[in-house]
Amino acid sequence: MVRKEIEKLLKQASEKLSIDGQVSVSFSSLPGLCDYQSNSVFALAKASGQNPYDLANKIVEAVEPTELFTFEVARPAFINIKLTQKGYNHFAEALFKDKRCGVKKISNQKVLLDYGGANVAKALHVGHLRSPIIGEALKRLYKFLGEEVISDVHLGDWGLQMGLTELQLYEDGKLDYYFSGKGAEPKLTLEMLNEAYPKASARKNVDEEFKRKADEWTLKIQNKEKPYYQIYQKIREVSVKEIKKHYGELGAEFDLWLGESDADEYINKALGIIENKGLSRISDGAVVVDVAVEGENIPIPKKSEDEVQRYKNPMPPAILKKYNGGALYATTDIATILMRNTEIGGLNRIEYIVDARQKNHFVQVFRVCKMAEISPSDQELIHIGYGTMNGSDGKPFKTRSGDTIKLEDIINMLIDKASEKLKSNGVEYDRKLALQIGVAAMKFGDLSNNVGKDYVFDLDKFLSFEGKTGPYLQYTVCRINSVLNKAQAEGGQINIESDEEKEIIKNILKLNSSYEIAYKEKSLNNLCLASYDLASAFSTFYNNHKILTEKDERKKASYISLLKLVKKALTQALDVLAIEVPEKM
Ligand code: ARG
Repeated sequence: MVRKEIEKLLKQASEKLSIDGQVSVSFSSLPGLCDYQSNSVFALAKASGQNPYDLANKIVEAVEPTELFTFEVARPAFINIKLTQKGYNHFAEALFKDKRCGVKKISNQKVLLDYGGANVAKALHVGHLRSPIIGEALKRLYKFLGEEVISDVHLGDWGLQMGLTELQLYEDGKLDYYFSGKGAEPKLTLEMLNEAYPKASARKNVDEEFKRKADEWTLKIQNKEKPYYQIYQKIREVSVKEIKKHYGELGAEFDLWLGESDADEYINKALGIIENKGLSRISDGAVVVDVAVEGENIPIPKKSEDEVQRYKNPMPPAILKKYNGGALYATTDIATILMRNTEIGGLNRIEYIVDARQKNHFVQVFRVCKMAEISPSDQELIHIGYGTMNGSDGKPFKTRSGDTIKLEDIINMLIDKASEKLKSNGVEYDRKLALQIGVAAMKFGDLSNNVGKDYVFDLDKFLSFEGKTGPYLQYTVCRINSVLNKAQAEGGQINIESDEEKEIIKNILKLNSSYEIAYKEKSLNNLCLASYDLASAFSTFYNNHKILTEKDERKKASYISLLKLVKKALTQALDVLAIEVPEKM
């Protein structure tokens, strides 16, 4: 809000001088010197053929007198702006009074967010960790900034893993009841699935006959044949229950619990549209769509950061039907876009929060949808590809024996490590609290990196109660709560006096502008860092001022209000990041 106000004043001043052009203001890059700065005069001077330094002075002289700011020209032609004492008080009060702490809504688009993406019948693993973390935070960010957001978990439930799992269960004699009517109906358990899928998945790589049969079973499920489809539904139910539990623990909430299978009736519709437009052709018995464009180089996903980037050309065709008529990953994604545009409609954007290594898949899917007009031309289809979560060795995070880690193990690890930490601080075991802290640590450790970058999962570092961590932010809010509880006093007029208080206000203003940055970058790192900066500005203030024992009642009341303001700004940011604040820690 401050930046906009200063921009307005400078714009009016330049218009008075009949100077046309954009005036923009940013936070100062030299905070010791001033609070805000404008570098726009260079361009304005160039456009109007004037000496930049002279023009800067003329503009500053023409600024409408104000008690909130001071303006100063610095060579060669910067305008430096400082908030006055009155300015600080004015904006502190405005932030305090505003329900949203001064954060403005900036968009009213309707958006569908596709994140989560867990696979039915397969154990949830670490690869499905970043999507719910990032997706949940982006959803909350978009909503907070005024958008209508619908979240869909889009379960992977219509692929080969179903045929593989069922066939393996069958061969292990677990499905006799359904095929020969022998014995009692078996109770399908998670343990059975967790055993069957990895076994089958390994087998398909070495046993071609088994793979062919699994394809056949998958097709039977997709064709909803008895009893294949009925067994599948039971498997799905067991799996989904587990997925709901884990996503719930991570604080990811979905409006729609749909999966690939829910778009089934749109598969043929989509294929019909594509065929009618003459976009598809048959290749080796499969239905494919050529999506390559002239001269493009497609980066081949790297296996590690230090590998050289290789390219292939052109983009391979999207395969929409297998040799045996079965649907594939791209098919269900295209059908799902058709379903969303038919049943929900009015979507300005559809965004996918999925591993960056699936980039080519989304390029293919999006191109087919645009070519076939399954997605209207003004609808944005966006893949937000996140980087890999690596272990300390810089390779994708695995167990010591080299297996992928199950999500359940990660969650237990978070609880254990957070409990240890709490114990060393003299807090007795409390699962809920440990989960809140552990999840916060992991989320902040994740979200404070640019979304596209790989990062190292270092739980010990993430769990520290000091520094740029989730627990530190939680701890800061708890500390404020405890002071407010002890003070048992209403706040009063905010009167910003010390540098520490000024820093708090500046950091709230910075935090406020970081929402828009996060929105534009589709990455929450800026918001995370700005939250940390505010928490740390608060700590400095707190360490240098006695609040509870302050004798001057007026001062004390101002401190209390300032604390409430910091609490509101921080909780608001943590809520967007989907980080819960415990009562105590
Ligand atoms: N199930 C997929 C996987 O495990 C992720 C799904 C992402 N969403 C999508 N619409 N393709 O890789």
